[in-house]
Formats: sequence, C-alpha cells, structure tokens
Amino acid sequence: MTHQALIIDCDPGVDDAVALMLAFGSRDLDLLAVTTVGGNVPLVKTTRNARMLRQIAGREDVPVHAGAERPLRRKPAGAGAFHGEEGLGSLEPFAPAKGVADGHGVDAIIAAVMARAPGTVALAVLGPMTNLALALRREPMIAKRLGPVAVMGGARSEGGNITPSAEFNIWADPEAADEVMRSGCALTLFGLDATHQVRATDARIAAIAAVGTPQAETAAAMMRFSQAVERRIVGPDAAPVHDVCPVAWLMQPALFELKPCRIAVETVSELTRGHTAVEFREASAGSLPHRWAARADAEAVFALIATSVG
Ligand code: RIB
Ligand code: CA
Repeated sequence: MTHQALIIDCDPGVDDAVALMLAFGSRDLDLLAVTTVGGNVPLVKTTRNARMLRQIAGREDVPVHAGAERPLRRKPAGAGAFHGEEGLGSLEPFAPAKGVADGHGVDAIIAAVMARAPGTVALAVLGPMTNLALALRREPMIAKRLGPVAVMGGARSEGGNITPSAEFNIWADPEAADEVMRSGCALTLFGLDATHQVRATDARIAAIAAVGTPQAETAAAMMRFSQAVERRIVGPDAAPVHDVCPVAWLMQPALFELKPCRIAVETVSELTRGHTAVEFREASAGSLPHRWAARADAEAVFALIATSVG
C-alpha cells in the first residue's frame, strides 16, 4: 500500500503510543489527522497524550482532534492498570506546544472522508468505536465512502482480556461496535487472536531502543512499561502490542493473514458484554462482510516499527 491517506482514532494508551510512533514515521502513510476518544484513560488525557507523542515524533503537521468523552450508553471505564495513571506508562506528562485542532473528532472524520474520492481515506480505530459510530449516525454516507477500516478489537480463540469473553475496546462501548458492524463499512478486525502473536520480547524492545531516536526511546519505554505490567498482572509472556497491528497492516498487508467472516457483538448480557461472535461459515452467516486477522508476522511487524522510528 503506497501513501495511504489515513486517520487514526485512538485512546493513548501505551500500545496506541507505539502505533502512533509507527505511523508518524511511516513513508507509506499520509496521516491526515489523529482523533481521540475516552478509553484507557479519560479523553482529556488521551488527547494530551496524542499531542505529546506528536511533538516527540516531530509531526506537529498532523492535527489532533478531541472526540467522544464517553461511550454511547455505558459508563466510561478505563484500563489504567495497563497504561498507568496518566496513560503513557512512566512517561512524565508535559504541556505540548501545539494545541488541539478546532472541531470535534467525529466531524473531522466526516469532513476528511467527504472531501476526498470514495475509498481513498482509511481509518484505524485503536480504542472504543464511539467516534466511528457517531460519525456513521451523523453522516451515513461515510460507510460506503470510507476506504479500509482497520480496527483493533474483539476476541475469538484467545478469549477476552477485560472479561473472560470480551476484549477491552469492544467491551468499553459494545453498542458502538454493534452499530459499526451493521453499517456496511469495509471492516477488518485485529482481535486478540492476532495481536497476541505480536509480543514485545526483551530482544525486540532492545532492537527498537537501539535505533536511538526520541521516537524509538519513547516506543521502547512504552513497551518496557507494558512488559512489567504484563508480568505483574497476567503472566510470564511478553506483552502484546495490540494497536500496532491495524497500522502495520495498512502499511504492509502481507504481514497478516485475514479470513472472511461475519462479526456480531453482544450488547444484552452483562456476563458476555462485548463478546465478538466471529462466524467464518457462509452457510450459517448468509454473507461474510467482515475480515478477521488470524495470523501475524510478528518479526516483520517489529522490523517495520524499527524502520519507522529511525
Ligand atoms: O484490548 C487491547 C486494547 O485495549 C488496546 O487498544 C489497548 O490500548 C486498550 O485500549
Ligand atoms: Ca488503544
């Protein structure tokens, strides 16, 4: 994919931060905007964090628009244990020089998509899907005008990470995810089945730190923080860097194996809230409008990160 126009919707968040460093340094992407959503930490912090990361990467040409503060219906629920109180692990917050762009993130997504030829603007959603759901409500035409929509969300074979049956982004705003699944967008989901294959081992972190740029050091610091949290809360495995997957796919699609499917989201049961039912059988699903990432080439993803942060 060469020079793909892209908007990144995110809730930085330590893995969002690594994904942003990947995108900010990429020559394959024309990053039109970053939009933020409340998720891992509240919106005021995800928006500040996106501006901090933009400054570290030297990309103040990219506007940051603040989006939805809370889910469509559910109470905001953070994931601070995995990202730290301020959202960027041990990185000390600072006041970024450049401010937030005028205009709500939802309106920024709509404006960018409607101003360009159909199918030319991709969207990477790295947090709860609230902003995309609101944009589809406000301008339903974007469902067919958007290019690839690459989402970090969902779980099938791997089980959940916020509950036994749900992944955090979908669980945080299941109604938004349900509306997006039904919208007709060209959706590809990078759920835990794929992102759990993309883990920041000590060697991979060291290789990125060795690049030596501020972006590289920041990405490495985020992954070291995740490493410590993973070992404290989850277990001995290296921490998955979930949010880099949609961005890496938009840059180099061959790094992932996708399967056609139909994805439905649980919005009624509290026990299985946010569960993604991923059906691969066309006979059962009727049609397979979505795609599910089944395999990831982790070594190649980390090589891509190392190149981008150089
Ligand atoms: O489940 C992983 C997802 O939840 C990632 O996007 C991470 O940043 C958190 O938001
Ligand atoms: Ca995220």
